Amino acid sequence: MTLKLAKRGQIPPFIVMDVMRAAFEREQAKGDVLHLEVGQPSTPAPQGVITAAKAALEAENLGYTDALGIPQLRARIALHYQSWYGIDVPLERIIVTTGSSGAFVLAFLAGFDPGDRVAVAEPGYPCYRNILSALGIEPVPIVTTGASRYQPSIELLEAVQGSLDGLIVASPSNPTGTMLSSSELEALADYCGARGIRLISDEIYHGITYGERAASALQFTDNAIVVNSFSKYFSMTGWRLGWAILPEDLTRASERLAQNLYISPPSLSQHAALAAFDCHDELQANVARYAANRELLLENLPLAGFARLAPAQGAFYIYADIAGLTNDSEDFCRRMLAETGVATTPGIDFDPGRGHGFMRFSFAGATTDMAEATERLKAWLA
Ligand SMILES: Cc1ncc(COP(=O)(O)O)c(C=O)c1O
Repeated sequence: MTLKLAKRGQIPPFIVMDVMRAAFEREQAKGDVLHLEVGQPSTPAPQGVITAAKAALEAENLGYTDALGIPQLRARIALHYQSWYGIDVPLERIIVTTGSSGAFVLAFLAGFDPGDRVAVAEPGYPCYRNILSALGIEPVPIVTTGASRYQPSIELLEAVQGSLDGLIVASPSNPTGTMLSSSELEALADYCGARGIRLISDEIYHGITYGERAASALQFTDNAIVVNSFSKYFSMTGWRLGWAILPEDLTRASERLAQNLYISPPSLSQHAALAAFDCHDELQANVARYAANRELLLENLPLAGFARLAPAQGAFYIYADIAGLTNDSEDFCRRMLAETGVATTPGIDFDPGRGHGFMRFSFAGATTDMAEATERLKAWLA
């Protein structure tokens, strides 16, 4: 007798993880892969974090911690908001989580019921819609274009059929690297506030910007759920640590969910992350490398034939319109990997509707890899 498979588990894969596996297999076979697919820094955690982790292994018990995170780290996160944005965040509203991924699950469970409708930009980070779907919450796609720098706008929200319970924004965004200006974010926060729509602001790429600094939704409202992480700017993906700043009405519910779902975020990572905020020079050197990589790609990708690129104001991504080169981005990226060893991500991961004509380059790796990749692509498309 066949057992039932739950519908909630039938969500699409996070395609970039599948691409990473294909790139790894080629790496094993040929050893020539250039990784422009992965959305993670190629650098390890900063030295101060590694030193703090070693010390914690000796000095700490490293058992479960408070479900909200260790008080010292929550206090350090509060200080971070003071020094980066000039805002005071009460400790009660800070929860440390298992990556920002853990924060999304808690926030969605605490803030929405099955059947609620949450707007997400397309193209956008695929896990928003996939996590929402797994929880029975309806992701409502906001189809964005270059005209709004692939960001949601009030005009686009006004055009949505039916009511909304939530809106997720990400500035800088994955996969486009585009940003909302401070006034655009403020206008969206006001729009949501006036209509009882919960605003979720994914601020995971803050610190990695190439012009204007990113504004936090907390500068405009206390009612947003702000999600952040040690993964990107702090270069600590595998340490699985993030945090959320919650509105007051969600703090206790999120704590109860965290206690029951995860018990606590990883203890060793929390002790180590205490040092992350003081590793300024090393982290800024990473951002300088991303900036050099970005320049190199923006100059050379058009020479290889990738002429239509999103502005890449932040994060470490360039989103390319490749409709002139293919109508099947998945096949195009697969052939690119097979024929050149350059691994990239097809747009269908981020935009199920139009992604067959787009792809994403990640420039989180070494500058020499970016230079080599563009040379291989120039020869491939010549
Ligand atoms: C926009 C965005 N949000 C969230 C995440 C999840 O990151 P983590 O769970 O490592 O904090 C990612 C990872 O790529 C991302 O790009």
